[in-house]
Amino acid sequence: MTAAKILVLPGDGIGTEVMAPAVAVMQAAAAAVDCPLDIDEGLVGGVAIDATGSPLPEATLAAAQAADAVLLGGVGGPKWDHLPMSERPEKGLLGLRQALGLFANLRPALLFGPLAEASSLKAELVADLDILIIRELTGGIYFGEPRGVEQRDNERVGFNTLVYAEHEIQRIAKVGFELAQKRGGRLCSVDKANVLEVSALWREVVSAMHVDYPDVELSHMYVDNAAMQLVRAPKQFDVIVTGNMFGDILSDVAAMLTGSLGMLPSASLSASGVGMYEPVHGTAPDIAGQNKANPLATILSVAMMFRYSLDQPLAAERIEQAVAKVLAEGYRTGDIANADDADHMIGTREMGDRVLEQLG
Ligand code: IPM
Ligand code: MG
Repeated sequence: MTAAKILVLPGDGIGTEVMAPAVAVMQAAAAAVDCPLDIDEGLVGGVAIDATGSPLPEATLAAAQAADAVLLGGVGGPKWDHLPMSERPEKGLLGLRQALGLFANLRPALLFGPLAEASSLKAELVADLDILIIRELTGGIYFGEPRGVEQRDNERVGFNTLVYAEHEIQRIAKVGFELAQKRGGRLCSVDKANVLEVSALWREVVSAMHVDYPDVELSHMYVDNAAMQLVRAPKQFDVIVTGNMFGDILSDVAAMLTGSLGMLPSASLSASGVGMYEPVHGTAPDIAGQNKANPLATILSVAMMFRYSLDQPLAAERIEQAVAKVLAEGYRTGDIANADDADHMIGTREMGDRVLEQLG
């Protein structure tokens, strides 16, 4: 069996800290299912700017293009906040998404039973929560042209463009319908069709595709209502499909329902099957370097990598079960701890060790 090529990009802030335990878990899970891995490491984001002057060095891009899967920690931090938009660490991440054609971003919000108390909502509202947000990732207002800031008359004017072509809507909606078929059979498409032409087109295109998926129950919701419904009655959702910026915002909301942004993994997939896997949380500069960060979002991202890029569902399940056991035993990093968890509070490295132990 040829080894799967994995590119590890720790990035900045807590990205480097959560990556070490995640890579250890990846190696242990791969060994358990006899899946040889060829792991390489590269630079992206602020550390890449410091070392090479670019947030996405050519060597990193080439390695990512040659890899079967990319595992990324996070990018950005106050050190680089003064840079102009086009030179910031975030450009490294956005450049990778675009260059690899990672148009489908899967952000599952799954509540592990023992964490119901850590949610900002009442436990009964989130018990057994299991929703999947599918965010379009290479189009919309993040990449639309024209964009910029220019002088008009006596003042500066900033502008961006929210644009979606039919084929972009169709390919992300297809992912939505197909994943809904594999899950609870319900798809909610989120837009702002009461105001935006691009959203009216989005709604029309998604609706037209429904005939091919008669077994899926399709609904549409305006994004403001969707934000409200997510905190009012989140269990009404199964799969949500939406554009780039709405998905960015709603996935942070959904993350918090599950207790902490520190728990949420994500997968970004291309048409060709290359995938990039990253925690939804950022680089958390306030706790960076203190062994406090929760590595579980990255560890769960590794599970998604085994499932979606390496076709090793067993390895994925083993990792997810190990995480569930560690949480059931009461171990907590600071972000998911209550007052009564004081004696089970552990750090980043220790949390990684507990998961490794459970993997056996
Ligand atoms: C995310 C992040 C990124 C985004 C930033 C870091 C560019 O918030 O992955 O959700 O806005 O897509
Ligand atoms: Mg975000």
